[in-house]
Amino acid sequence: MPTATADDAAALARDFDLRHLSPEFYVNPYPVYHALRTYEPVKRMPDGSLFLTRFRDVQAVYRDPKTFSSDKTVEFRPKYGDSPLYAHHTTSLVFNDPPRHTRVRKLIAGALTARAIAAMEPALVRLVDGLLDAAAGRGRIDLIGEFASAIPVEIIGNLLDVPHAERAPLRDWSLAILGALEPSLTDAQFERGNRAVSEFVDYLRGLVARRRREPGDPQHDVLTRLIQGERGQNGESSEQLSEEELLQNCIFILNAGHETTTNLIGNGLVTLTEWPDQRAALLEEPALIESAVEECLRFESSNQLGNRMTTIDTEIGGMPVARGTPITLCIGAANRDPDQFPEPDSFDIRRAPNRHLAFGFGIHQCAGLSLARLEARIAIGRFVQRFPSYRLDGEPTRGGRVRFRGFASVPLLCR
Ligand code: HEM
Repeated sequence: MPTATADDAAALARDFDLRHLSPEFYVNPYPVYHALRTYEPVKRMPDGSLFLTRFRDVQAVYRDPKTFSSDKTVEFRPKYGDSPLYAHHTTSLVFNDPPRHTRVRKLIAGALTARAIAAMEPALVRLVDGLLDAAAGRGRIDLIGEFASAIPVEIIGNLLDVPHAERAPLRDWSLAILGALEPSLTDAQFERGNRAVSEFVDYLRGLVARRRREPGDPQHDVLTRLIQGERGQNGESSEQLSEEELLQNCIFILNAGHETTTNLIGNGLVTLTEWPDQRAALLEEPALIESAVEECLRFESSNQLGNRMTTIDTEIGGMPVARGTPITLCIGAANRDPDQFPEPDSFDIRRAPNRHLAFGFGIHQCAGLSLARLEARIAIGRFVQRFPSYRLDGEPTRGGRVRFRGFASVPLLCR
């Protein structure tokens, strides 16, 4: 006989619909994810799409980009029509398949070199220490507004060398564009997202024109590298992004690195308040910061959902799936799958191995993961060492998004 709890879990799985989520889900989606994984791991939702929660199914889809396409030109038409949001998303490399994806990815990965990323560390340390000094002076901060979000805005701005005086609108543009990726959209969100793309494109057109006139050092300046493209043996440009690809992918890079990294830092520092023994372990052994960051990525994945579309009739986890079926990959659930992670609901900063899917997997795996890891290592590591007894100073407010999991504000006492 199933217990009442098992009945409840089966009902949670049966009634799950990504378009109609309860307020509790936003606070803690993991009981629902566990129920789905147990009772309906390949869940068909009312709109005909599938929602995957098992690690092995999510990874198998990531592994096979031919069968599971990232191209959104058809899927986004009804949602965005012929709008700036449509032009933006369908030109971003994350929403393209090979061969276009291969060419654009090579140029972007070639610009985000290990050398360009490593060169950012000293400025990052200065920035973080400055924010910590200000927090120490006040004794309390909003972890998100006054720390976690300030770091990626600055770092991604530095990456493309956006002049400081021009950075103010970047975060709002980014939030508006990413907000428009939510499963259901209000008219106001749609309008805000479109306005943000138009303003962002206009701004970048000017920035790119200035950089063409006065190129930066291509060793360190990612935008100059993106403009110049791949250099052939004689220094001539052999492969380049079109103007549209360049502008839309700069927006994408600026967006991809903002909210995700803010949420990694915010989620990580909040999680450490909930697991005092883990915080104590990190304080005692600061070298654990690298594996602690991996555990933060797994435990509260800041990017919870990914999407694909089947290009042929296929199967997932033994279930037949028709061509043209939209698939949602639940990274947050896969990263709590007990078949992959022993005691998945325990936060263990020493967890090894920890092959999570927080950055995706396969040909689209996050191109900015080294930068994200660097930012989190410096931000979380230095925060904990500076304020070993920091604690909540009131209720945090959730960001209210299902795709990007994080907080809008977190009042903290800095001690
Ligand atoms: C904690 C921070 C971050 C998380 C959790 C994250 C997560 C992800 C995930 C899950 C994907 C794969 C999407 C898919 O396959 O559908 C992705 C792709 C990507 N991310 Fe990140 N990301 C983070 C930070 C960054 C940063 C800082 C940058 C830029 C500097 C960046 C740039 C990109 C790019 C360019 C792609 C597209 C790669 C492709 O399609 O080939 N990300 N990211």
